Amino acid sequence: MKILYFGGGFVGACSAAVSADSGHEVLVYDINQELVNSLSSGDKDKIESYLFEKGLGDLLIRNQARIKFTFALAEAEKFIDEAEAVFMCLPTPERDGTGETNLEIYENAARTLAGLLTKRNQGKPSRYVLIINKSTVPIDMINRTKEIMLASGVKNFGVGSNPEFLVEGKAIEGSIRPARVVVGADSQTDFAIFRNIYGRFVESSNVSYLEVSPAEAEAGKLLANYILFSRLANCFDVVGRICEKFSGLQFENIRKVLITDGRIGDWGFYDSLFAGGSCFIKDARSLAHQLKVKGAETDLIDDVLAANQRQLNNFLARAEAELNFSWAGKTVGLLGLAFKQDTNDIRNAASLGTTEFLLTKAVKQIKVYDPAAGNNYLKYFSGHKGAEKINLVGSELEVIKETDILIITADWPQFRGLDGLILENLPKGALIMDGRRMLAQKYDELMGAGYDIIAVGSPLMKAKL
Ligand SMILES: NC(=O)c1ccc[n+]([C@@H]2O[C@H](COP(=O)([O-])OP(=O)(O)OC[C@H]3O[C@@H](n4cnc5c(N)ncnc54)[C@H](O)[C@@H]3O)[C@@H](O)[C@H]2O)c1
Repeated sequence: MKILYFGGGFVGACSAAVSADSGHEVLVYDINQELVNSLSSGDKDKIESYLFEKGLGDLLIRNQARIKFTFALAEAEKFIDEAEAVFMCLPTPERDGTGETNLEIYENAARTLAGLLTKRNQGKPSRYVLIINKSTVPIDMINRTKEIMLASGVKNFGVGSNPEFLVEGKAIEGSIRPARVVVGADSQTDFAIFRNIYGRFVESSNVSYLEVSPAEAEAGKLLANYILFSRLANCFDVVGRICEKFSGLQFENIRKVLITDGRIGDWGFYDSLFAGGSCFIKDARSLAHQLKVKGAETDLIDDVLAANQRQLNNFLARAEAELNFSWAGKTVGLLGLAFKQDTNDIRNAASLGTTEFLLTKAVKQIKVYDPAAGNNYLKYFSGHKGAEKINLVGSELEVIKETDILIITADWPQFRGLDGLILENLPKGALIMDGRRMLAQKYDELMGAGYDIIAVGSPLMKAKL
């Protein structure tokens, strides 16, 4: 089956690669020429330096015969004559901190698509096409997409919803072996198209293949993200805080006590300085906005958002509050710029808020390192006041050497093994701030070697001299 993608970013590229791997013929149209050139390069390094997602490079290269990326609309126009489905994978950012979804990019793309669809088969479209929202959109978005198509005179089409539940860093693995596929449609014709797209999952005993209405699919996506996000906020703001405020509680032991209750389960039971990424915060704020428009109270959602922000503020304030520490003139080392391991995505990463905080504190220099996200981070701060203090270096060692405060802001697995490098190279008397408890097994040893440690989920740990 021929499938067109509008938008080839994290979601579009991963979904398109998996569609091609399922045997479909796929064209990805994206206005970003650099993205198109990188993803169609056939060169794994080039693909991954642009979009670092485990397995994506191999999958794109393996399926080169069935997937093409283009920024030429004329190619999409030719392709659409025989396409049976169009996935909309466009950004749907928040509008100016209001929680409202800014649909301008989506709607512009939808109007471009409408232009192509009206010209299909010389204006006599014999083939039915399903337009599928994969972007995260408001619950009643299906009506808006239909309106745009009808206003342009598009005929013989349906609109469905297929929210994306991918976990960045595991997007390919998660799409090839998903736990669930949720498709929203309001006709049997549209469900049948979805079954053709996802043939390999429909009858699979390992996959929950769920057919619901488009609004249920969208609401389900937003609610799933809110529930996961609230779980993280609970773990940071209540479980972690208890462990910080009472001595004699080891976070990892409390965690074991909790997760061995099958009703609680283990997802989200880690401590962190912040839950970032492109989805949790945006989706919770969108849900709250949509509820407010309907006149409902949103205190609980607002509190979850506030708890997440409070966690970052608390963590960063601890050096001054607990050690009377002065940041001015200090060299800071920041490890982990992506919002989490295995991605180069920096959207809402803890590193951003941490850097902004440091730039208000008159520090001398901020040395930063990340295995994948360095360039995206630098792009984010380019032109930012104080950006000249930021120095992207090529290894953990360069961050650790000649540093007054070492801050860990992301959970790249290799950071767990940094104790040896720290013991040999971090000046004695330096402060370690572990925002991900990456060194939890080594806190005693590090204190013994002369470092003060502030970690989420632990009281202040003073150097034993
Ligand atoms: N990233 C995630 O983990 C994730 C997970 C689930 C859902 N989502 C949702 O999926 C959607 C896309 O997210 P993403 O992370 O892939 O965003 P992204 O910014 O990585 O990708 C979006 C792509 O759309 C392209 N684009 C913009 N305007 C276009 C146009 N007119 N025509 C064609 N292409 C155009 C951009 O160039 C960009 O490459 C959002 O609604 C997001 O909330 C994201």
